[in-house]
Amino acid sequence: MAASLIDGKAFAERVRAKVADHVTRLREEHGLVPGLAVVLVGEDPASQVYVRSKGKQTVEAGMASFEHKLAADTSEAELLDLIAKLNADTKVHGILVQLPLPSHLNSDLVINSIDPAKDVDGFHISNVGLLGTGQKSMVPCTPLGCLMMLRDYHGSLSGMNAVVVGRSNIVGKPMAQLLLGESCTVTIAHSRTRDLPEVCRRADILVAAVGRPQMIPGDWVKPGATVIDVGINRIEGEGGKTRLVGDVDFDSCAAVAGAITPVPGGVGPMTIACLLANTVTACCRANGLAEPEGLTA
Ligand code: GUN
Repeated sequence: MAASLIDGKAFAERVRAKVADHVTRLREEHGLVPGLAVVLVGEDPASQVYVRSKGKQTVEAGMASFEHKLAADTSEAELLDLIAKLNADTKVHGILVQLPLPSHLNSDLVINSIDPAKDVDGFHISNVGLLGTGQKSMVPCTPLGCLMMLRDYHGSLSGMNAVVVGRSNIVGKPMAQLLLGESCTVTIAHSRTRDLPEVCRRADILVAAVGRPQMIPGDWVKPGATVIDVGINRIEGEGGKTRLVGDVDFDSCAAVAGAITPVPGGVGPMTIACLLANTVTACCRANGLAEPEGLTA
């Protein structure tokens, strides 16, 4: 393997330690405890695992965690009513509604009912617009984590060719906006892109966020490029056991790249760390206090 490993697990630990430090200061100097409310509708097993992990890490960072688990047949009116209560609750600085929602609920309507100042996912249309126009916003957690790792590895990203494969609202589009904000030349590629291998080969920074296991092979990677693998896919491995793989074929990409994030242990751990960071940021902004350094975009 030629590439350096970008260790997201270790990086996320450092982010969580910074968050915990800031939480201690907020409590001691201002009597404030940042609070995160997580709303889960239904019993999707993967969502239950994520929500449990978010609650645990929130408490470990010294913050207050409010979990709201609602039945799968909860009506839109009931969910909107809960969000209105959380919007008004001064102990709650961040609100996250776990996606996907059951199909009878309108996700856009629900997300846009969250107070944008408490929208720690950065999915509210106001935050999307603020990010797109280069203004201060809440930034989606996964792209924020990717940006932190890229800045840490490279310092300045100015002038680099960045290719983001995937155009989701959660990762691809905000990732492209953040890279544009760093003065990268940004391409968003997707399933209809013509000659995708050639487009990827132009990238100094290649971000894979397509949700297709091991889709990007090493010969799509420019020698020395930095590869950020956002994918978390469970596939069948040897002996019928399952294992996690990313959207890039790790071994062949690592042989060519200059640096690469592994799966697991790359981008994944950064997402919850950035959720905690966003909750502290929201708490500081709500109280007119200075934001923690190094935890925002
Ligand atoms: N489901 C998968 N990823 C996410 C995320 O980042 N935020 C929310 N709210 N739901 C998700």
